[in-house]
Amino acid sequence: MGVPEKRKAESPLSDAAASPKPAAPGPSSPGPKENSPTHASSSPRSEGRSPTPAPDSPAPELPGVMSGAHWLQQGLPETDTDDKDSTLGSDVESSTASISSSILNYRTINGRTYHSDSVTDGEYWAPNDQKMLGALEIYYHSLFLMTDKQLFQAPLKDNIQHAIDIGTGEGFWAIDFADKFPYCDVVGTDISPIQPTWTPPNLRFEIDDATKEWTFKKNFFDYIHISFLNGAIEDWGNLYKNAYRCCKPGGWIEHFDCSPIVSCDDETLPPDSALATYGKILDEAGRRIGRSLTIAHDGTQEPGLKEAGFVNLHTKQWKQPLSPWPKDPKQKEIGLYTYAAVTSDLEGVIQFLFHKVMGWSTEEVAVFAAHMRQEMKEQKIHGYWTWKVVYGQKPEDAE
Ligand SMILES: C[S@@+](CC[C@H](N)C(=O)[O-])C[C@H]1O[C@@H](n2cnc3c(N)ncnc32)[C@H](O)[C@@H]1O
Repeated sequence: MGVPEKRKAESPLSDAAASPKPAAPGPSSPGPKENSPTHASSSPRSEGRSPTPAPDSPAPELPGVMSGAHWLQQGLPETDTDDKDSTLGSDVESSTASISSSILNYRTINGRTYHSDSVTDGEYWAPNDQKMLGALEIYYHSLFLMTDKQLFQAPLKDNIQHAIDIGTGEGFWAIDFADKFPYCDVVGTDISPIQPTWTPPNLRFEIDDATKEWTFKKNFFDYIHISFLNGAIEDWGNLYKNAYRCCKPGGWIEHFDCSPIVSCDDETLPPDSALATYGKILDEAGRRIGRSLTIAHDGTQEPGLKEAGFVNLHTKQWKQPLSPWPKDPKQKEIGLYTYAAVTSDLEGVIQFLFHKVMGWSTEEVAVFAAHMRQEMKEQKIHGYWTWKVVYGQKPEDAE
């Protein structure tokens, strides 16, 4: 899928587990250091934990949405077992967690691992294990094709010096960006140490919770990139304000995000289908955890960035076909990669939100996932997910 071999370099996990690394490259960078070229000297960190509340009831009903029990009653779709792919630093506490083996103390739910509680107060919905990372790798390629292989939309100059990728994941984008701008110092942050240890020399990764007060220097970054953080952030206004402070006057911010609500332009999406249910359940789950999953449909980005002080805002949207149903070859290819990514770990995508947040049983989740995979495979539903980027600039004359 076009991801260079170098990305598949030795996992940082095993290394760090054996002996945590004190320095970059690799994700195990220490917290902000005094006199760091990137970080301000210190910054307070907000207190208190806000774990995801337990579901109100074991199997909540949403108006017009099929419950978990409904899907369990359906049983497995007959062909789900068929060949699925035949169609297709400092000692002051700061936002940067100090390096310690506790970042590897992953939470486990039904055999899947999630980021360590020691890194963030929040509970992020996606597992951080190899199964999910493999799916995200394929998904990244689908998005790359969808955006015409453009890594960014903002009008960046060739001579930018400092860029940051917030919630970098496995760092695919950050690696590609660092390769494209070899003279730019690039930082990728995440709450999970899932990045490769091999990186371009101008890229480093840090374990950092973006919802905490940013410790990076004021007026520092030429470009701040945020991608695919739906369901991760409670207070986007606060995150954008931190970004504004750390963005250079004249620098750019770009927020590219999605919504899991399945849209359809030709009435092939039955309201009682698993695909229609998927979006509604995730929408409700996002509400329950206080971290919206439907960013591209919420109108979060433009007003939030404007309120933070960014100007010269531009918006662009894409439709991501969720299976290879389109006739157009390019859209078909995007749909094929989307299908491959989503069906390779659908349980991973929905387990935390359907099971832990919405109270569906493990069996209900499994049967629902089988129905959704089947619908995607059949391609009768011409559905798509919406992606929206908003980019804007810190005023040249900002202080
Ligand atoms: C769906 S992945 C997207 C990765 C990458 N940005 C991309 O577009 O491919 C979301 C990533 O955000 C990270 N994340 C979630 N909450 C975060 C937080 N509070 N601070 C920093 N990263 C976070 C997750 O660990 C995960 O790797």
